[in-house]
Amino acid sequence: MIQRKLALLVGITMFTLLLMLRWEHIIHLVSLMRNERPSAEPEPQTDLPSAESTLPLWQRAPMETISPIPGSRHLMVSAFKDHRLGGAILVISIICRQELQPLYCVLCANGDANDSGNTDAKANGALGQCTTSQAKVDIHSDHFGFPFHTSDVFCTTTTSQQASYVSITSDRNTIDNLTFLTIQNQEVKESFRYKYTICISNLFGGYNNALQFAQTMEVYKLIGVQRVVIYNTSCGSDVEKVLTYYMREGMLEVVPWPLHKFLTPSTGWKYDLHHGDIHYYGQLTTLNECIYRYMYQSKYLLLNDIDEIIMPYKHGKLEKIMDTLQQQHPNAGVFRIENHIFPKTQFEDSGRFRLPQWRRVPGVNILEHIYREPDRKSVFNPTKLLIDPRRVEQTSAHTTLKQFGPVVTVPFDVCRIIHVRAPLQGHLSKDQLLVDKKLWEFEKRLIPSIDHALNQSGLL
Ligand SMILES: *[C@@H]1O[C@H](CO)[C@@H](O)[C@H](O)[C@H]1NC(C)=O
Ligand SMILES: *[C@@H]1O[C@H](CO)[C@@H](O)[C@H](O)[C@H]1NC(C)=O
Ligand SMILES: *[C@@H]1O[C@H](CO)[C@@H](O)[C@H](O)[C@H]1NC(C)=O
Ligand SMILES: *[C@@H]1O[C@H](CO)[C@@H](O)[C@H](O)[C@H]1NC(C)=O
Repeated sequence: MIQRKLALLVGITMFTLLLMLRWEHIIHLVSLMRNERPSAEPEPQTDLPSAESTLPLWQRAPMETISPIPGSRHLMVSAFKDHRLGGAILVISIICRQELQPLYCVLCANGDANDSGNTDAKANGALGQCTTSQAKVDIHSDHFGFPFHTSDVFCTTTTSQQASYVSITSDRNTIDNLTFLTIQNQEVKESFRYKYTICISNLFGGYNNALQFAQTMEVYKLIGVQRVVIYNTSCGSDVEKVLTYYMREGMLEVVPWPLHKFLTPSTGWKYDLHHGDIHYYGQLTTLNECIYRYMYQSKYLLLNDIDEIIMPYKHGKLEKIMDTLQQQHPNAGVFRIENHIFPKTQFEDSGRFRLPQWRRVPGVNILEHIYREPDRKSVFNPTKLLIDPRRVEQTSAHTTLKQFGPVVTVPFDVCRIIHVRAPLQGHLSKDQLLVDKKLWEFEKRLIPSIDHALNQSGLL
């Protein structure tokens, strides 16, 4: 009893402290510790929309990453076969926790080969035989009090192995006018197009930190990242130009994330403080969607924010670090990396990287911020994740919720996050901060490549 009271007291004290620091991520983590577990896991489908006009009426256009579930306020995002769960069909969804009526899966075969089996579907395309069965809904545990949350809607019937399309509905009696999602990840693959892919959850508001974004993308390249995925609700005009450049250039996939058309997304992490229908613009849904989207496309995924760089300190490349870590922990699929803050309010004195050509580009120049905040005794250092997506079933922002195999905490000197942002310990003066010039090691290749990217984006 005393222990519980003490724990509560410590919890409240810490919480207040953190609140003052306004660091949502830490608070988020503390919440986790206090058992308000967070989670997320939707998935949109976005193959680029070249053939939209040829889609049959029942199939969703690729730009429409989110669809309503008929007869409810729930939303469905994307569908995948999960080979780790006996080939169950999983529809990443956003479920209203207060309105849990039964839901049904309509699984349909591909009718292309033989249209005569198409007795049920009122479709103007090739939808094959369909079967309806009750869905099983698994709401992720980390909802932070928000009414809507990331959920796995499972469809398991004997016919699920043959299904190519799925739709979720609350009305089991009609399949008229349903929107069908293509079931992705039909085949297990052993080799992957990318080795390191970064999943960046939502871009929203007028986010226009173009300089930091372009610099960060070029650092990613130098440490060995081949692909970046960003879920886009909205952004500022200069960031838009940089996004367009990287899409054209091939490194970036932008997944449309028009969540505001369906819900009132929260800009914060906790319902009591920030209100809205869903945590952080559905951040957790996008992270989970990204895991399934890239499960057979990328060997590893890095789940971090747009202003964070998971930096291999011990070697210059992710490759070497991961080879070593994976050798040491052959069955691990989750690697937790510590976040470290580089306040954007403290500038390096010499002005060496205050380059004239970048002066008119909006955003933070990460090369000017070499001062790192020290760890605090009483505060958790939140982590971000580097994962093998085939070993993760559900994730939250700082920890996974369901995974196969052990979770490894990566030592600070091996790999840590460079996070240039507003300070958390704003009272500290320069000499109380630590000097960390890791980014400068990339100078020779980095400066010309940043210039090139900005020029190609039309920002120089
Ligand atoms: C199409 O299905 C019908 C009835 O199920 C069957 O009789 C016919 O042989 C099939 N045709 C082809 C080309 O598979
Ligand atoms: C399906 O959509 C059409 C056109 O929007 C509408 O006329 C029809 O009533 C709908 N059917 C059902 C069962 O909702
Ligand atoms: C991001 O989303 C906004 C709002 O839909 C859109 O105007 C913009 O073009 C999108 N950017 C990219 C690069 O897709
Ligand atoms: C910017 O791009 C243009 C056209 O692509 C090129 O002519 C120019 O030299 C480039 N400038 C820099 C600074 O890279």
